[in-house]
Amino acid sequence: MQYPVSRGYSTSQITLHWVIVALVFFQLVFGDAMSHSLRAIGRGEAVDPSVATQATLHIWVGFAILAAVAIRIVLRLTKGAPPLPDGSAIVALLARLTHAAFYFLLVAMPVTGILAYWFVPSLGDLHELGKPVFIVLIVLHVVAALWHQFWLRDGLLMRMLKPGA
Ligand code: HEM
Ligand code: HEM
Repeated sequence: MQYPVSRGYSTSQITLHWVIVALVFFQLVFGDAMSHSLRAIGRGEAVDPSVATQATLHIWVGFAILAAVAIRIVLRLTKGAPPLPDGSAIVALLARLTHAAFYFLLVAMPVTGILAYWFVPSLGDLHELGKPVFIVLIVLHVVAALWHQFWLRDGLLMRMLKPGA
């Protein structure tokens, strides 16, 4: 499928990128409250109120991510993205794969979370497995962004800070 090529990310694409970054960090840092409270409930123990609040927030933030990424995917398909910077074909392929894996995880995490919480508890393990995968991808992605910014000095980071067209 051929996606449209734009002159730069739009204000809405940039805003959604950073809002999602903040929400995903929240999920990765506080997500284990969900596992703790489910285990405590399983053992018939009381759940610490602050852990219970974090677990409730986990659900709402997860739904917010799902809504935000749905809009983001629609924008990506309609407005497109600027062409990848010139470079080796392998690096371009890695960038495409990382971005595609992000979109996949941003949908798969809320979906497996919802299924694990309400319908198929055994999917909790798969959902938890998403955490290290997410962290590896974020490290790769951030190292790539910083490498562009400070080694290649091609201003790539600005594409996600300043609207293009
Ligand atoms: C992008 C969105 C989400 C991310 C990044 C995320 C991330 C996480 C993380 C990091 C954990 C803890 C894993 C651990 O303890 O090692 C977790 C647990 C959990 N999350 Fe999510 N989550 C998301 C959305 C959701 C949603 C929408 C729900 C729906 C109710 C949900 C339900 C759960 C459940 C039930 C657990 C406990 C799994 C278990 O102990 O078996 N998550 N999540
Ligand atoms: C949870 C963390 C993150 C996720 C899920 C994420 C996701 C993504 C995705 C999916 C794209 C591709 C956009 C598209 O073409 O449709 C992208 C692009 C980008 N991200 Fe992130 N990102 C994260 C964190 C960060 C951080 C921390 C930085 C800065 C250090 C960053 C900098 C960028 C830049 C500069 C681009 C544009 C790349 C280009 O123009 O080709 N991202 N991000």
